[in-house]
This record gives sequence, C-alpha cells and structure tokens, in this order.
Amino acid sequence: MTAPKKLFVKTYGCQMNVYDSERMAEALGGQGYEQIDTAEGADMILLNTCHIREKAAEKVYSELGRLKTLKIDNPDLKIGVAGCVAQAEGEEIMRRQPAVDLVVGPQSYHRLPQMEAKVRQGEKALDTDFPEEDKFALLKTRPKARRAPSAFLTVQEGCDKFCAFCVVPYTRGAESSRPVARVLDEARNLVERGVREVTLLGQNVNAYHGAGPDGADTSLAQLIWALNDIDGLERIRFTTSHPNDMTDDLIEAHGTCDKLMPYLHLPVQSGSDAILKRMNRSHTAESYLRVIDRIRAARPDIVMSGDFIVGFPEETEADFQATLDLVEEVKYGYAYSFKYSTRPGTPAAERPQVDPDVADERLQRLQALITRQQQEIQAGMVGRVTRVLVEKEGREPGQMVGKSDYLHAVHIENSDAAIGDVVPVRITQAKRNSLAAVRHEQS
Ligand code: SAH
Ligand code: SF4
Ligand code: F3S
Repeated sequence: MTAPKKLFVKTYGCQMNVYDSERMAEALGGQGYEQIDTAEGADMILLNTCHIREKAAEKVYSELGRLKTLKIDNPDLKIGVAGCVAQAEGEEIMRRQPAVDLVVGPQSYHRLPQMEAKVRQGEKALDTDFPEEDKFALLKTRPKARRAPSAFLTVQEGCDKFCAFCVVPYTRGAESSRPVARVLDEARNLVERGVREVTLLGQNVNAYHGAGPDGADTSLAQLIWALNDIDGLERIRFTTSHPNDMTDDLIEAHGTCDKLMPYLHLPVQSGSDAILKRMNRSHTAESYLRVIDRIRAARPDIVMSGDFIVGFPEETEADFQATLDLVEEVKYGYAYSFKYSTRPGTPAAERPQVDPDVADERLQRLQALITRQQQEIQAGMVGRVTRVLVEKEGREPGQMVGKSDYLHAVHIENSDAAIGDVVPVRITQAKRNSLAAVRHEQS
C-alpha cells in the first residue's frame, strides 16, 4: 500500500464552487488523494476560482505567487486552477504563472482524473471545453461516509440571461438542468449520510426544467415537491433565483410545502428602471416589487434577501436614490451589495464609468441602510418561536449552534440537542450577527 497523496482545495466565489470543490475532492479521492486543510504538505493544490469581480480574479494570481514557493520543498507538488477564472483565462493562467500544472473549466470536471494522471507524468493539462455531458453523472467519486447536516446540491447550471455586467454566461455556459431522477438519488444518498437540509443550487435555479421520469420538463416547484417526499430530509432551500422566473407554482409552494423554508434570495441589482434596462435585466423595479407582494401573500413571514450593484455605468444620484427607495420598501433580512466591477468582454465594460469615489460613497450609504434593516428584522425575532437545525457545538458549555428556518444563525443555550436535530426554540436576544435562543417546549 502506498501512502495516500494529499489534496488541498481552496474555494473562492459562490456556493456552486463549494459544491464543485466537494465533487472534485471526491473524484480525486478515487485517485488515491486524501483531503487536508493546509497548502503545506499537499501533493496537489487546487484553487477553485471566481471571476465575478476583478478583485476576486486578481486574488488568484497573488495566491499562486505564494503557492509556487512550496514547490521548492516538494518538487512533486502539482498546482491546478479550476472554476470561473480557469474558464475565462484558460492558457493565459499558465503563461502568467508557469508554476501552474493544470487548468480545468467548470464544465470539464469529470475529466479531472485523466488530467491528474497527465500532470503526474510531468505534462501540463488544460481543458476548458463545454462538452455535452452531465459531468456529475460521469464523475467516479469516493464520497465521505458522514456529512454535515446541511448540504448544497447543484440542480441547474449556466445562464442565458446575459446581464450586461456579468461573466457567468461566459464562464458557466448555457443554462442546463440535471434530470429529476439524478437529483432525487443524490438527495436520498445525502440523507443516508446524515444530511437534513439541502440547498438546491443554480445560477438561475428557478429556471430549472430538468427531465422528469417521463422525459417531460419538470419545474423547480415540482422538483421541490418530489424532494418533500423524502423521509429524513427536513428542509429545502434554493438559490439563486431570477425575478422573471418566479412562476406561480413556485410562489404557491412557499405557502403550501412544509419543508420549503421561508427565506428567498431574489436579486434585483438596482431600483432604477433606466439602470435595469441598461443592465439587460428584463424586469422593472415595479414588476420585482409585485413579485414580492405575491410571495408575501403566499408566505407572509418570508425573509427576503437580495443582491445590489452600485455605481453601474451612467448611474446618477437619482438612479441610486431609486435603489434606496426600493430597499426601504422591501425590507430585506439580508442583502449583498457590490461596487460595480468592470469585466472585460461584457457589454457594460464599454459604457461611461462612474467615478470610483462616488461609487464608494453610494455603497456605504446602501450598506448602512441594509445593516439597519437586518438589525430591525433580527430584533423583531425576539420572543418568536422558530425551529433550528443544529449544526455544531457552540463555544460556551451546553451551547449548540445552528440556523433558523429564516437562515438566522442561532445559539441555543443549555441545550441537549444533538447535531442534525431540528428543534423548536424561542428567540431571547438579537446580537450583532446571531440570535440567542432557548429550547421551546411545545404544548
Ligand atoms: N445568478 C445570480 C447571481 C450572479 S453573481 C443572479 O442572477 O443574480 C452574484 C452577484 O454578484 C450578482 O447578483 C451581482 O449582484 C454581483 N455581480 C455580478 N457581476 C458583477 C460585477 N461585474 N460587478 C459587481 N458585482 C457583480
Ligand atoms: Fe449573471 Fe444575470 Fe445570469 Fe445572474 S441572471 S448569472 S446576474 S447574467
Ligand atoms: Fe464566481 Fe463563477 Fe460563482 S464567477 S460567483 S464562481 S459562477
């Protein structure tokens, strides 16, 4: 028996990259690799990268500069770049950083084992194709026996929407959905390994239209209903959704499907119709707000979350004010806001840019408003009863930590709950980034 080779994977970017990193580690598990938590001591380092903003992409090169020095002590070390920077920049990565042995785009992960064998022979390996194959079905994996209670499950990938600022349609390719049977098999398998909550992932997850058992297109709502029947699976979430794909059946499911959690991430990007138009978002502020009205009619206590870009090309103070007004109206439980970042090759990159200082100042104002709203919503939870999926032990004795139905981080004091339990709690206090709770005895 040879000692297992060591693999270190570092993940940047979105939840889909987290999922992909797990799959890549499993695939390399089949090649005799064992995953470790540090770059030091690794025989293979994989950076799973993000191209969404310039900063994210540049981080990769500075990290590579650091990592290459590890090759001095370990000449057998191989360095790979996966993810969206790999897809966008391909060979350029090896030119800019010759220490890189392997570059693999998100649609080619099933070819990773062959690529690993090639780099072990001392060759370079590059694959950024968009093959017409279900990479996850083709991956031969060696999964972990036990899993944490909450897991991601990719059901849809790619995007056909082409928002004017966004690289995702170029890095992840065209929209495609995995067949229902494969999703259900994977979910059942996760439940057998201790998973109680799945978050269905897709760049445009609510555009899901996977093939059902009879080959017909199946909507995300229908998929959720099928998952709802899996014993032992307690909670279902999904992200990220586009406002135009919030279909009636999906909205209704928020009111009727008990395992579907009352939390929805629905990015709007801007509150100004002029900007939304230039962004090619194909919805207006008003149509977005009316979708939220319908969701709240189905599920009044739903917590909304969103994404915003400030300083998009040609954004005026009045456009920005419209964003603040929209945020005031929605009242977000969570929201993520970003300063516009110019991405080469996207249409918005050609437009007149906003002064970076103006954009910075707007970002601060938006974030102050969002933080205030989040804190108000957290404070409004005090006294309420919710459920928590227990994920780990807390720092204090007897304390357990998990997520509420609304995705708030909750510390349960003096709890005898075990990891993986879903327990009713009463919220006692709102802290900065979490809530404190006690076990609630149901009558
Ligand atoms: N598919 C999702 C999310 C895509 S990326 C959606 O449709 O909303 C996640 C977030 O990054 C986006 O919602 C957007 O707010 C932000 N983003 C994307 N491109 C960006 C850019 N060029 N500059 C700044 N933020 C960007
Ligand atoms: Fe990017 Fe727009 Fe597609 Fe979201 S919907 S991934 S923001 S192009
Ligand atoms: Fe980044 Fe690619 Fe996700 S660009 S946000 S890792 S889809």
